[in-house]
Amino acid sequence: MTQNLPKLPDDRIPAHVAVIMDGNGRWARQRLRPRAFGHQAGVKAARRIVRACHQHGVKALTLFAFSQENWQRPPLEVTLLMRLFVRTLSREINSLHKNGVRIRFIGDHRDFAPELRALMADAAALTEANTGLTLVVAAGYGGQWDIAQAAASLCRDGLPITPQAIESRLAVADLPHPDLLIRTGGEKRLSNFLMWQLAYTELHLVDMLWPDFDESAFSEALAWYAGRERRFGRVPEAS
Ligand code: IPE
Ligand code: IPE
Ligand code: MG
Repeated sequence: MTQNLPKLPDDRIPAHVAVIMDGNGRWARQRLRPRAFGHQAGVKAARRIVRACHQHGVKALTLFAFSQENWQRPPLEVTLLMRLFVRTLSREINSLHKNGVRIRFIGDHRDFAPELRALMADAAALTEANTGLTLVVAAGYGGQWDIAQAAASLCRDGLPITPQAIESRLAVADLPHPDLLIRTGGEKRLSNFLMWQLAYTELHLVDMLWPDFDESAFSEALAWYAGRERRFGRVPEAS
């Protein structure tokens, strides 16, 4: 892939990008194909964006792959999604490792098949010491679950529940919060993604369906982000 990416100043590149990869089903329906066909195309889009993060110097990428609520989809779709998850992980892990990617998984994995859980644990262990892109895959994830499990773990240890303490027990506690959230598929909602961590994230909500999301759409998102003024409740510097 050779593409001329517009060069943005380094301090305007988000350190952490989070993505709600939505629209696979509609993309497939537009082509009169089953939803699973859209999910397969969605994997290709995810691969493109991992590569684009490398090229732009984004340090962490969190992808929403499967929400807790997605368990309520028809059993066949859930089965096919799980199968795709296993296949993708088995196929991609070596090249991710070779490219220095550190992969992690967040979510409630208790209902996942033992085979998939083992694959996730092996992939995380294999790549743990890598220093390239940190790729966080949110699967079986819910933002409310994350906050509740953090609070429960503090209670177990008899510690007071403060924002800082919750922060330290979230599923991923050692990454900065996402600077930029991209949601494809046109919906204007968080769908129980990183409810805590998105408090001050810039939200880039686009109509494009996830399988169509490519390097230039990602560059556009970064350019949009570069133009944002982040105030965190303060007033602009010149005021
Ligand atoms: C997102 O695409 C993928 C997952 C939730 C796993 P959808 O499957 O939600 O696609 P739409 O929103 O129905 O088009
Ligand atoms: C959000 O998409 C979850 C993922 C992309 C994994 P959904 O398609 O599940 O969200 P809703 O149901 O439209 O809110
Ligand atoms: Mg959807």
